Amino acid sequence: MLITGGTSGIGLAFAKALAARGCSLVLVARSRDRLDSTKHDLEAQFRVECEILRADLSTDQGIADVSQRLGNVESPIEVFVNNAGQGLYHQLATTDTQPLVDGIELMATTPVRLGAVAGAAMKARGHGQIINVSSVAGWLASGTYSAAKSWVTVFSEGLAGELAGSGVTVTALCPGFVRTEFHARAKIRDDAFPDAMWLDAPTLVRDCLADVEAGKVISVPSVTYKALSTLLKVVPRRFVRSGGVVTRHRPPAR
Ligand SMILES: NC(=O)c1ccc[n+]([C@@H]2O[C@H](COP(=O)([O-])OP(=O)(O)OC[C@H]3O[C@@H](n4cnc5c(N)ncnc54)[C@H](OP(=O)(O)O)[C@@H]3O)[C@@H](O)[C@H]2O)c1
Repeated sequence: MLITGGTSGIGLAFAKALAARGCSLVLVARSRDRLDSTKHDLEAQFRVECEILRADLSTDQGIADVSQRLGNVESPIEVFVNNAGQGLYHQLATTDTQPLVDGIELMATTPVRLGAVAGAAMKARGHGQIINVSSVAGWLASGTYSAAKSWVTVFSEGLAGELAGSGVTVTALCPGFVRTEFHARAKIRDDAFPDAMWLDAPTLVRDCLADVEAGKVISVPSVTYKALSTLLKVVPRRFVRSGGVVTRHRPPAR
């Protein structure tokens, strides 16, 4: 099992859930210290092998290293969790376009490149599962983050269709707010939303893995977000754009 962003939040919850099933792991992230400590903790708690691969997935080298591991026929990857990411909030009307380009690379291009390579390797073997971590934000109108997550969801649907009947499943996980380090890292205020809107990562992952087993292409967690995502697909877009369905992202906390 290979999990990008497996040292924190949703990725770490996938690592624990899969380790609890006795699966060996490959964890990908940038921080060497956190990779080492996560490996140590998971091996001690679950008695599974945990390989670590330090890679920055905003770079070609990082993508190449992870692609190589995904394609390794000696030690094949049965489940690929395409998860690493961060919040993207930047003015859209700007001359400083590099942050927009960098964000799109990490959140849209990288998942497509890695998902494509994993899909090819699994197709050749005739089995495997790909989980692309997207978001309900893909049905919102919140700048490049929404656009990138929409991209990931639609890419997942396309890949699932292309691989149908090959023994490989593809699932886009579309959570709402999940309590992880994501919001603090992106300096997003997380105190403006009611507790009922928040999901915990272990429950999210448990439900997602059940959806994967059921062959679902899109996995939306919880009754609240199932209802919200259904609503977002039917209400007029002008209502979505106005922020009437879900509050737009909040400015950074002071
Ligand atoms: N939390 C939410 O409310 C929420 C909701 C919907 C979707 N999501 C999505 O869920 C995914 C995981 O987010 P999370 O909430 O679990 O966030 P998190 O707790 O901040 O974890 C992010 C993980 O990704 C790794 N990472 C970040 N940038 C990376 C890079 N350039 N190269 C390699 N690894 C990188 C981090 O490790 P290093 O920093 O060491 O690299 C960390 O392991 C993201 O795709 C996010 O968009 C989150």
